[in-house]
Amino acid sequence: MTPNVAAKAVANDGWRAPDGVLFRGECLNKSFGGVHAVRDISLDITQGSVFAIIGPNGAGKSTLLNLMSGIYQPDRGAMRLEGVDLVGLPAYRRVRLGLGRTFQKIRLFKHLTVLENVLAGFHVHHRIPAWQYIVHARVFQRDYARCRDEAMRLLEFVGLTPRAATPAASLAYGEQRMLELARALATAPRLLLIDEPAAGLNAAEVEKLLDRIGRLRARGMTIVVVEHNMDLVMQIADRVLVMDYGQYLFEGSPAEVQASPAVIAAYLGD
Ligand SMILES: Nc1ncnc2c1ncn2[C@@H]1O[C@H](COP(=O)(O)OP(=O)(O)O)[C@@H](O)[C@H]1O
Ligand SMILES: [Mg+2]
Repeated sequence: MTPNVAAKAVANDGWRAPDGVLFRGECLNKSFGGVHAVRDISLDITQGSVFAIIGPNGAGKSTLLNLMSGIYQPDRGAMRLEGVDLVGLPAYRRVRLGLGRTFQKIRLFKHLTVLENVLAGFHVHHRIPAWQYIVHARVFQRDYARCRDEAMRLLEFVGLTPRAATPAASLAYGEQRMLELARALATAPRLLLIDEPAAGLNAAEVEKLLDRIGRLRARGMTIVVVEHNMDLVMQIADRVLVMDYGQYLFEGSPAEVQASPAVIAAYLGD
């Protein structure tokens, strides 16, 4: 089932996104014990844009991403991807609807090869379980070949072609980040959520990452990027949401964010 078909199958209450809005979150809340990690956050993410979420450490950025992707369910609030109510849907269902993501703490299948890690990303849209791709039973060979070609294209896109047969565990840190991106892309996301993609990357790797994000955007993908590094965000974002202590601090264009006294105070105070 393609993500679009899946979306239509679940849309049932006549809700229509405002023009151009792919994702809408309304008054999202999440607490962990006494920590109110996300408090009354609302956001509209426009189709085809790069939407950045920034803020000091502990501001609730990853928690917000986890609410969007279904790792956590909100205590309160609403979320929709086009017409589809996301609240209550587990993460794997959201992946099928077109919400792909990477993690702040890299999560790869370390003992599998680079290629196998990307192949594992494909299984979400197939009835065939992931392990079948890895053992490539004969009956699945044609499907496997198609996925393999596509996986190799994704590896080329992230610059990991020469590393295809390498175990993920032996990749350098920056390469692991790019592999996570390739695996997320294998799930064919309409909305790609990436959490601190530049953390731990050197300057050349950051350049490459920015270039790839720009290319995905040029192809029409909508991207949410959580980032600690403000300079990076200013280069790629169309719109920026600033969080502090779980709360909304500011939202605007990169230029507006840079000129905001509240944002400057939060960062200098950090
Ligand atoms: N699973 C969890 N259990 C308990 N506390 C958590 C959990 N996840 C996040 N927190 C807390 O929520 C707050 C926001 O964390 P996080 O969303 O990771 O911030 P950011 O990504 O902006 O650095 C922090 O105080 C953090 O310790
Ligand atoms: Mg985080």
